[in-house]
Amino acid sequence: MEALKNSILKNKVPTHIAIIMDGNGRWAKLKNKPRIFGHKNGVNSVRETIEACGDIGIEYLTLYAFSTENWNRPKLEVKTLMALLVSSLKKELKILQENNIKLNTIGNINDLPKSAQKELKEVIEKTKNNNALTLTLALSYGSRDEIVNVIKNISKKVVNNELQIEEIDENIINNHLYTFSLPDVDFLIRTSGEKRISNFLLWQIAYAEMYFTNTLWPDFKKENLYNAVLEYQHRERRFGKTSEQIEKINE
Ligand code: FPP
Repeated sequence: MEALKNSILKNKVPTHIAIIMDGNGRWAKLKNKPRIFGHKNGVNSVRETIEACGDIGIEYLTLYAFSTENWNRPKLEVKTLMALLVSSLKKELKILQENNIKLNTIGNINDLPKSAQKELKEVIEKTKNNNALTLTLALSYGSRDEIVNVIKNISKKVVNNELQIEEIDENIINNHLYTFSLPDVDFLIRTSGEKRISNFLLWQIAYAEMYFTNTLWPDFKKENLYNAVLEYQHRERRFGKTSEQIEKINE
């Protein structure tokens, strides 16, 4: 594994990795266990991924932990997921501090149970001066919902004469997204074999490389993250330019 890690070019890692952590339920079902057993083991993969990202110098990691649609799951599963979030935050604070990781959230945080909001606030406050990796948890997050909010907030400013319509550009929109403090996503990973975006960071992934793996989230470990990043490094990102133009830039 050390050799695998060392084969990653440190100056060519994606700045921002986003992950759709999928397959906890199926992983548990394969083992004849309740779905929540999958989520519990999913937390171990979250820890491994954070550490792996820290080890290779990733600056931003964004995890899709709970979508606006996930509220429709059975009540008990939602409740247990929220409890798991709180207990994980309590337990993992030490890991965050040791690895100089700053916690951030995106989504309708006000919809979460008060206990989760309180714990998140505390950990965000305690880690606010860390600066190696920014870990963003998407909680009660939906990209369309985010864009609706952006439009409402920009419209308010236009109505109040704080902003002119002609001034609206991509930068203004970026600055109104939940992700205003994050750079665009370079690399999007989805586990469990599904090849969908599921309402995650639609605006922010405009030029992201996509990586789909059949590995179920609880089986996703450091090695899987390193392999994914190695594949990213073999891809050519053209941003609408030709191959020849890109070769010139890299010369
Ligand atoms: C998707 O698997 C996973 C989730 C909806 C929840 C992800 C949550 C965690 C990994 C644990 C808590 C998070 C943190 C950040 C501590 P699924 O249930 O959709 O799996 P399935 O598609 O196989 O049913």
